[in-house]
Amino acid sequence: MTTTPHRLYIETVGCQMNVLDSEMVIASLRRHGYQPVDSVEQADTILFNTCSVRQHAEDKIYSALGQLRRHKQRCPEKIIGVLGCMAQKDQRLIFERAPYVDLVVGPGQLQQTAELIERARAGGGRQLAVSLGRRDGPREQVRRSHETFDPLRDPAMRPTPFQAYLRIQIGCDKFCTYCVVPMTRGPEQGRPPEDILAEARLLADQGCKEITLLGQTVNSYRYHSGGRTTRLADLLVALHDIAGIQRLKFVTNYPKHMTAELLQAVRGLPRCSHYLHVPLQSGSNRILQDMKRGYTVEDYRETMARIREFLPDAAVSSDFIVGFCGETEDDFQQSVQMVRECRFKNSFIFKYSERPGTKAAELLPDDVPEEVKRRRNQELLALQDAISEEDNQRFLGRTVDVLVEGPSRAAEKRGDAGDVLQLTGRTMCDRIAVFPGTRRLVGEILPVTICDCTAHTLIGEAMTKHAGPPLVGLDPSLPPARKARP
Ligand code: 5AD
Ligand code: SF4
Repeated sequence: MTTTPHRLYIETVGCQMNVLDSEMVIASLRRHGYQPVDSVEQADTILFNTCSVRQHAEDKIYSALGQLRRHKQRCPEKIIGVLGCMAQKDQRLIFERAPYVDLVVGPGQLQQTAELIERARAGGGRQLAVSLGRRDGPREQVRRSHETFDPLRDPAMRPTPFQAYLRIQIGCDKFCTYCVVPMTRGPEQGRPPEDILAEARLLADQGCKEITLLGQTVNSYRYHSGGRTTRLADLLVALHDIAGIQRLKFVTNYPKHMTAELLQAVRGLPRCSHYLHVPLQSGSNRILQDMKRGYTVEDYRETMARIREFLPDAAVSSDFIVGFCGETEDDFQQSVQMVRECRFKNSFIFKYSERPGTKAAELLPDDVPEEVKRRRNQELLALQDAISEEDNQRFLGRTVDVLVEGPSRAAEKRGDAGDVLQLTGRTMCDRIAVFPGTRRLVGEILPVTICDCTAHTLIGEAMTKHAGPPLVGLDPSLPPARKARP
């Protein structure tokens, strides 16, 4: 008897951690005979990997679930699952709001997904698997209930097999007052260095050229065992020696832990990117204190000075929250001032969104009106965009090495099918570059000469490896190429 494979549709929202979690879930389900498909209609198993960082992300998922109500009535045999941070945060509430959901699986239980789906399919009713809350047991037990799920790597399940995320740390203990992550992802835990190295070797064997190490506060990584403590700098040194790995990146950094020792290690490792994401969140000391970020603006300036001292060409990016509880116009202008002063490569700017269960939700009124949040968001973004564009203009006429990721978003949207199409890739410092080329170039690291730019994109022409004629039509009026480390 032949069994037809199950057909899996998975939608992922949120951060890089979720992208990685989805890769693992798909890899695991593929081993259980599932085949990924492109639409809900084709699927017999529909999963949402969710995010809880802002209300908007949750609203989108509940609305997508709402749209499945009819679908499930028509096809009751289809399995619908909610995975990730919202599953951990809302738990049974999801069954109440969408009674046709079959399983709810927290980020710490993803390794059970295949089994839970099978149980639901076999008539076992609703399946709920979540971690213990912070106060639901002794610390060790809570820690163990947030298990990381990293053993399966499946290059076919990544956007490109040449780039991969590698989790080195789960959870977070910083408890910034606005943030839900310490609840949904549990206590901070570093993964054992030998597991990380084994996984990196596996990725290199699979042809991966660029690894991005992931942690909520990745530069706080430490692992203590046998009287020895391993830190991020030690990991970078060890990973740097793995043949085939040509680029190492790490996100997200905690400003207070950007030590000279780490920056020195980065400086000494040529395959380590000088791209550093170091979220400031606010330029006002009063707000930083209410956010319980654990540093002042002066501390952050020192961190920036240290980064510039060790890595003068570093591309630093940031996150900001505007309209946090009690943020006055003067507080906001201090954020504006810091964007001007620090000249970030780019910033992600978010309107404050109150999250149930956080200290801010409990103690501080969400008192900045929505239209003020929106205006501040737009103002800060406009300033950051102007800075990003000026920053990109420095690359005009210069040649940068780009790891080619695939057709650009514009090419995909247009459905470009010809031999030569617009490709996209990233420079060593995480700048996006687009240029014309063929699909065969995907996965190559190519010199690209930049001839134009926007705030978010460098636009150029790829050169052959032998500095010969461009792969396709380079504008001869361009100045001669100079090498730069972008
Ligand atoms: N509201 C708005 N933005 C938030 N972030 C985290 N929690 C919230 C919240 N409650 C932002 C922070 C963080 C990024 C990942 O999301 O800027 O760095
Ligand atoms: Fe959230 Fe703060 Fe931890 Fe980042 S450091 S995940 S903002 S609690």
